[in-house]
Amino acid sequence: MIRPEAYARLGQLAWVHAPPKEEAQDESRIGRYRIVARIGSGSAGEVFHALDPAGHAVAVKVLRRVRRGRRYQREVELLERLSEREGVVAFLEAGRCGRGPYIVLELAEGGSLRSRLQRDGPLAWQQAATLVHQVARSLGALHGDGIIHRDLKPENILLQGDGRPLLSDFGLAKDLGDEDGELTAAGFALGTIGYMAPELLDAQRELLGPWTDVFALGAVLFELIAGRPPFQGKTLNEAARSIREDAVPDLPGTPRALSEIIRRCLTKDARGRFADGGQLAAALAPLPPPDAENPLSHPPGGRTDD
Ligand SMILES: Nc1ncnc2c1ncn2[C@@H]1O[C@H](COP(=O)(O)OP(=O)(O)O)[C@@H](O)[C@H]1O
Ligand SMILES: [Mg+2]
Repeated sequence: MIRPEAYARLGQLAWVHAPPKEEAQDESRIGRYRIVARIGSGSAGEVFHALDPAGHAVAVKVLRRVRRGRRYQREVELLERLSEREGVVAFLEAGRCGRGPYIVLELAEGGSLRSRLQRDGPLAWQQAATLVHQVARSLGALHGDGIIHRDLKPENILLQGDGRPLLSDFGLAKDLGDEDGELTAAGFALGTIGYMAPELLDAQRELLGPWTDVFALGAVLFELIAGRPPFQGKTLNEAARSIREDAVPDLPGTPRALSEIIRRCLTKDARGRFADGGQLAAALAPLPPPDAENPLSHPPGGRTDD
């Protein structure tokens, strides 16, 4: 349920809850956008490649019925604040059609980091470190503004055509300065749990901070190199146990300096990690950049659902 004070605070968004009825029937359109293809989905929405009236390609995310309301408003609010920043997906418009509320974003031509992993397999450590260095820098800027993402994983990191990463999916993000801002914890889906720091897993609100995102990004960096997340299990309980108890597996062929950075990101006790994205970026900066044999980007190819 959306509480009345949320409407007041987001008065300019209240109109999205009054759908224009005549649009409900047209399956080929979302508002004024013409659907080209369905390119992805997550726990909250379905994402389409679409064209605006001038024929420019965009991505349109339509939220599922069960996830509408507060999460949508939070996502739009944060996108409005953040999307001008380097390394954050550009936000174009929010609206509502017969299918429900939608968000229009810049189309990330390279799809998600998940689809790239599925297509090309693991990355050379130089590529992985460079990519995560870029993500950590953008994340550090968010952290500087008191915002934590809370749902970093390969599905929520998008790639531009040239391979540069974009932070995306702010549906679970939190403004640490906003007393009213508590949302439910990230969904306990098997695909998500592997990136959750122990304090997020145990919903210890007072322990959540930028370091919670550092843990998730460390897990992403590990997976980019190893081809699998550092902590796994056949069931949610097994995966949660592994996160709480298991040591970070070795990464053969990876320089010790990089393995140490990953290990520090994945420390169980939040105080042992890099404090925020900026500190992680600083630690990754001295590592050698990708070379001709290990370029940053492959040509973009097909996409898959995440
Ligand atoms: N702007 C975009 N450009 C290209 N693909 C996108 C874009 N936004 C989302 N996607 C694809 O759709 C998937 C789901 O989007 P996301 O915003 O993460 O939704 P959810 O909140 O449901 O997780 C992503 O993992 C990605 O594959
Ligand atoms: Mg997502």
